[in-house]
Amino acid sequence: MNSITGKTKLCGIIGDPIEHTMSPAMHNAAFEALGIDYTYLPFRVRPEELKNAIAGLKALGIVGLNVTIPHKVAVIPLLERIDPLAGKMGAVNTIVNEGGLLTGYNTDAPGFLQALRSKAIEPRGKKIVVIGAGGAAKGISFILAEAGASLVILNRTLSRAEELASQIAQFYQQDLKAMALSEANLKKALDGADVLVNTTSAGIVPDVDLTPVPAGLLKPDIIVFDIVYNPLETRLLREAKAAGARTIDGLDMLVWQGVLAFEKWTGRKAPFDVMKQAAIKALQNEK
Ligand code: ATR
Repeated sequence: MNSITGKTKLCGIIGDPIEHTMSPAMHNAAFEALGIDYTYLPFRVRPEELKNAIAGLKALGIVGLNVTIPHKVAVIPLLERIDPLAGKMGAVNTIVNEGGLLTGYNTDAPGFLQALRSKAIEPRGKKIVVIGAGGAAKGISFILAEAGASLVILNRTLSRAEELASQIAQFYQQDLKAMALSEANLKKALDGADVLVNTTSAGIVPDVDLTPVPAGLLKPDIIVFDIVYNPLETRLLREAKAAGARTIDGLDMLVWQGVLAFEKWTGRKAPFDVMKQAAIKALQNEK
């Protein structure tokens, strides 16, 4: 742990629950690696206390904050400025405090994009299949549309997929389809697709035997990205590897969103590898 001084700058994360966050481990490891006088703490903030927490952030001069479930949407009206991309997505996960002026950003979706690009996958012109239509799917679908991919969104509840597709269509022109999550529709959607992204909670601990995609539909020519990181290798990724497909797990997205937040708060290049190792260690300690 880095030593606290009278000049230490404070960052943190607000959410409810917050006990299982890996962000303090990632950011404190990065501060230490760079030898900069910052520290990062978790704060459990109940929904009815969110307004007070944001006022407290200003009063205490906390320089940067991550925002997680359930506050990513509710925090928006409490901030002075919202980054345009975060505004379109309707979700903020990072606040930067510049002399009491709070700006909200979304680094979750750009973190996803960075994770893809770091594997030399450029979405422009690609056909990408997104499974799920919740909060995570929304950010990912918006950033993929912004990056020029065509999208097929499949969700267990068709109306949510349609709603998300129509929100995206307000801003972006490219090919966009919404379908119910069924084996027949998956087969159609995966025909000619370059990337498959799972944003659903199917496969998260303790439901590790669930997968949103039957193994028989996975082929070697598709890249499978599961944003779940607990477990790191979901059943979907295991079956994708067995089918000969390239895979990306949720840890890289988690680390990249942290990297992008860190760089906004400190103005320094974040040490990706240090943060990834810290996140892996924190994940192991959770077990
Ligand atoms: P998040 O913000 O993490 O995306 P969410 O908004 O609760 O969470 O969305 C969860 C997503 O996972 C939804 O798309 C949900 O499908 P429904 O809209 O039909 O509820 C999807 N999901 C959860 N469990 C699932 C399962 N067992 N099979 C398929 N989809 C599932």
